[in-house]
Formats: sequence, structure tokens, C-alpha cells
Amino acid sequence: MEKNIAVIWGDCSSPEIVKQTLRVLDKVAEKYGHTFHYTDAAMGGEAIDKYGDPLPQHELDKCLAADSVLLGAVGGPKWEGLPGEQRPEKGLLRLRAGMGLYSNNRPAKIWPQLAPASPLKPEIVAEGIDFIIVRELIGGVYFGKHETYTLENGEKQAVDSMPYSEHEIERIGRIGFETAMKRRRKLCCVDKANVLDTSRLWRAVMHRLQAEYPEVEYSEMFVDNCAMQVVKDPSQFDVIVTENMFGDIISDEASMITGSIGMIPSSSLGDGTRGLYEPIHGSAPDIAGKDIVNPTACILSAAMMLRYSFGMAEEADAIENAVNKVLDKGLRTADNMSEGCTCLGCTAMGDAILAEI
Ligand code: IPM
Ligand code: MG
Repeated sequence: MEKNIAVIWGDCSSPEIVKQTLRVLDKVAEKYGHTFHYTDAAMGGEAIDKYGDPLPQHELDKCLAADSVLLGAVGGPKWEGLPGEQRPEKGLLRLRAGMGLYSNNRPAKIWPQLAPASPLKPEIVAEGIDFIIVRELIGGVYFGKHETYTLENGEKQAVDSMPYSEHEIERIGRIGFETAMKRRRKLCCVDKANVLDTSRLWRAVMHRLQAEYPEVEYSEMFVDNCAMQVVKDPSQFDVIVTENMFGDIISDEASMITGSIGMIPSSSLGDGTRGLYEPIHGSAPDIAGKDIVNPTACILSAAMMLRYSFGMAEEADAIENAVNKVLDKGLRTADNMSEGCTCLGCTAMGDAILAEI
């Protein structure tokens, strides 16, 4: 097969992980007889430096013209002082919205080899950690009205609104149910229905969908309780469906209990097969340029791209099996290192994964 991939190299330590990921994709292409064409697209800090805009239309167009998009991570201290509209993160939000990617899938699955790196007690980890967070990605408070204004008494006030309409909830709710049907058939809607109107509307829409999926064991949980349950008994979860900001927060927490945020990939999809694939971690400015960042989450994101956008299941398995073998050999990076293992840098970890494909 021939595929066009738009590549957003990202900021700070991100280009280091993207470089290793493209090496892995090239190896897969060679082994399975595919051709991947890469088109660089600038977004985030890189685009601000080049064009004074975190996502100019011509760069978004490159992503829209591709079969899928691979992204490292954007942002860093250099751009932190900029106003909200011009920050690197705004580029990411505009990319997600511009591509219509309302469904963000973030697997929280522990690799058994990394159990010692989990901050949870061994007896909790032993129960199993294997769930998916289905996060709504282009609605809610991220895309509501943001405003700072001055009151009559001279005091400043700010407001961020959190709108959700029924069709936005329904399409992500359906992804939640469909994802559960392919797994252990348990779906938990995470919200704050004791306080928020948006959450109450979510529940009403979810109840309508529930009637279409009688095989799914459906439950609801307040987000504060969910934050607690994720560390107390993560084995209870199969699929969590939730709004944008709750998903952002719970997915960081969920990644941590699996041993390292450096291992978790993600997919973002809309109605078609074109997606955006990115690790859930940030651009790690503190370790940029040191060749010590973990490239695995980005490499696993590429595996998700092969599986979900290109229908290349065998090729995706090949990458995931390679990561598994590398972990079996006790090879680690600084973020998930534990006693008795060997700590590799970014390039060496890329080499190790390549060698297993
Ligand atoms: C994520 C990130 C982004 C988000 C930031 C960089 C805007 O934290 O992908 O989880 O909040 O969605
Ligand atoms: Mg986040």
C-alpha cells in the first residue's frame, strides 16, 4: 500500500521521538512492502517561529490532504508568555477541530514488565490495569467562549464557558458504546452531574443510547470519585467515556499508574479514517537535546495509525510485539527505569525496537 503521512515534528524533545518513529515506520514499510510518503507540517512553537501563527491554514491543509497525521508534542517555555490565541497549544486545538477529530482514544494498559514502575501497590496492579478513556476532543470548555474583562469596580473577571449540544454528546457516546462492545462490554460515563448542566445533558443522551446497546453494562460516576477509583481499584474500568477536560485530567492520571506517561499512545478520529496520532505526553522541555526521552509512546502511536487508519493490523502487531520483546529484555528509558534493568537513551531505544521488527 502507498500512504501519505503528514508529520508534525513538534517542539523541544519531540523531534527526537518523531525521528525514531519514522525509522520504525520505514522498517515496517520495507518488511511488508508498503511505501510511506512523509510531508512535514509545522504546528505549535515551530509554526509560531516560522509563520507567527501556531497553525497557518497552509499547514492545516497539508494535514487535510494526507491519509493520516503523526504528531510528537508541542509547546515549551519559549512560547509560554504569548497570549492564549497565539500559544502552541492553540495550534493543536485548531488542528483537532480543523480535522473534525471528536474522538480521542487513550489506552491505559500496563505492560506487565513495567509493573514495578507503577506507583500503585503491587496487589492493586496485580488485579490488572487495562482500560480505555474515550475523550470528547473538540467541544466543551476547550472550545467555549474564553473572556477576560473588567468589572465596574475595576476588578478583572474571567469566564470560560462549557457548551455541549446533543449531537456532540451522541456521537462520542456512541464511540464509547462501540468501543465497549469490542472489549469487555463495560462502559462508565464520567461526569459531574451533581453540579453541571452539561453533565446532566450527557446522562440524558447516554440513557437514550443505552437502549441500543443492551449487552453493555453501563454505569455513571462523578469525576472526583473517578480520580479516586483510578488509583484505588483501576481493574473495575473497561471503557470510560467523558467530556474534553475531564478526559484530559483522568488520562494523565491513568497513564501514571501504568508506570510511565512515556508509554501511552493515542488516536484521534472523526467520521472518516484519517486520524491524528500522538503520544499523550508533552514536549518534555527539561530533557530536550539530551537523547534520553522515551520514544515508545510515539512509536506506539504510529502502530495505532497503521491499525486504525490504514487497516494494517499485522504491521501494527509487529511494532507492539517489538516493544514487548524490548521490555522483556529489561531495556528501559529513564522514565520507567527500575532495578536490574538497562537504561537506554532515545536513539538506542529506537535501535532496540527496530532490531525486533
Ligand atoms: C493533551 C494535552 C493538550 C490538551 C494540551 C497540550 C492543549 O494536555 O493532549 O492531553 O489539554 O488536550
Ligand atoms: Mg493532557
